[in-house]
Amino acid sequence: MLRFKKNDLCIEQVKLSDIAKQYGTSAYIYSKNQIIKNFEAYKKALGSKGGFICFACKTNSNGAILKLLAGIGAGADTTSGGEIYRCLKAGFNPSKIVYAGVGKTSEEIEYALKSKIFMFNIESFEELDAIDNIAGKMKVKAKISFRINPYVNPDTHSYIVTGRKGTKFGIPYEDAVKAYLTAKKKKNVAIVGIHSHIGSQILNIAPFKLAAQKIKKIVDAVEKNGIKLEYINCGGGLGIEYEEGQKVPDPSQLMLELFPVFDKDKKFIFEPGRSIIGNAGHMLIKILYRKISGGKSFLITDAGMNDLIRPTLYEAYHEIMPIKKTNAKKVKTNVVGPICESGDFMGKDRMLPMIEQGGHLLVTCTGAYGAAMSSEYNSRPLLPEVLVDGNKAVLIRKRASYKDLLLNEI
Ligand SMILES: Cc1ncc(COP(=O)(O)O)c(C=O)c1O
Repeated sequence: MLRFKKNDLCIEQVKLSDIAKQYGTSAYIYSKNQIIKNFEAYKKALGSKGGFICFACKTNSNGAILKLLAGIGAGADTTSGGEIYRCLKAGFNPSKIVYAGVGKTSEEIEYALKSKIFMFNIESFEELDAIDNIAGKMKVKAKISFRINPYVNPDTHSYIVTGRKGTKFGIPYEDAVKAYLTAKKKKNVAIVGIHSHIGSQILNIAPFKLAAQKIKKIVDAVEKNGIKLEYINCGGGLGIEYEEGQKVPDPSQLMLELFPVFDKDKKFIFEPGRSIIGNAGHMLIKILYRKISGGKSFLITDAGMNDLIRPTLYEAYHEIMPIKKTNAKKVKTNVVGPICESGDFMGKDRMLPMIEQGGHLLVTCTGAYGAAMSSEYNSRPLLPEVLVDGNKAVLIRKRASYKDLLLNEI
């Protein structure tokens, strides 16, 4: 929902230059209607199949965004007690909250049980013991699935592959049936399904299908042992178009391939994160200084790697564009931040017009794993977040202050 109106780049109907004036930079800006559109595509694809779409809230846990998604029927995929807390505060129905993660603490398990979440995606035999013990002490039954590592290696950055053999995630494929047989003997758990998540920013359906086919073999073997698996949780991972021309499958194409792998009576859970919020959010930044050094051109901006760590952590590409049309000459340039690290960049060797000092740029598609992964490194207060709906831009997180930096220090 980014488009130029005359000379101004707008998000929905609002000029980004107006947002810069009103809320300052750098700042994260989101399009409400893009979020809704992305979620509705999943909902429509799921259609009348039973199950639900759980937003992976690790990608963006701003309360206003969570509330928006809860309001249009999303469930939540969580990975910590803190995320469960945020989701409950935002109004998610606990019966639509699922909880994955290799390192759930006793306190987190107890909190999740107290909150009556829908299910735990268990990632080890010892975690199964822990959940069974805690549920027993609380005199409740924990609903569980096992996250199975299907040993499928999707083509994406190695840091965001989770389904490959040798990663820390899930129950090893060869132990999957044993996990279910072990759980069957536990008094305080109820088995409801099976889960796998193979990675993120995946741009073709083949690895999802291969994982589903491998999971189906486990489902058959488990069900032969009299254990019914009602829910198939296919995880998240669908990619988005970071670079123009990247071909991205849509949720309906994905589901069309996955549903026939399983029996007709199965219910499905999907846990999309990036493909719901990634292209709905952008980072608005200002050029502080320009310089040429060692034969290279630099635009030094007010956003650092603490605000957006993806370029340096994952060598991620985000398109960067001026928010005003200009005839200024394009120059190959590095867009960098103010932090004392050579890894502090938003983009390298980009052909960009030589905009004036004080001009603005938009780092696009930063809605997922952007604000959520930001930190106060270099004692830089966290950025404000703005949600745009049509011609209205509303602050949904205020800019943190210097005082906030000291908040919990004693
Ligand atoms: C268990 C699980 N589900 C869902 C997701 C969301 O993935 P994505 O943002 O690629 O859709 C993740 C991300 O790492 C995850 O670990």
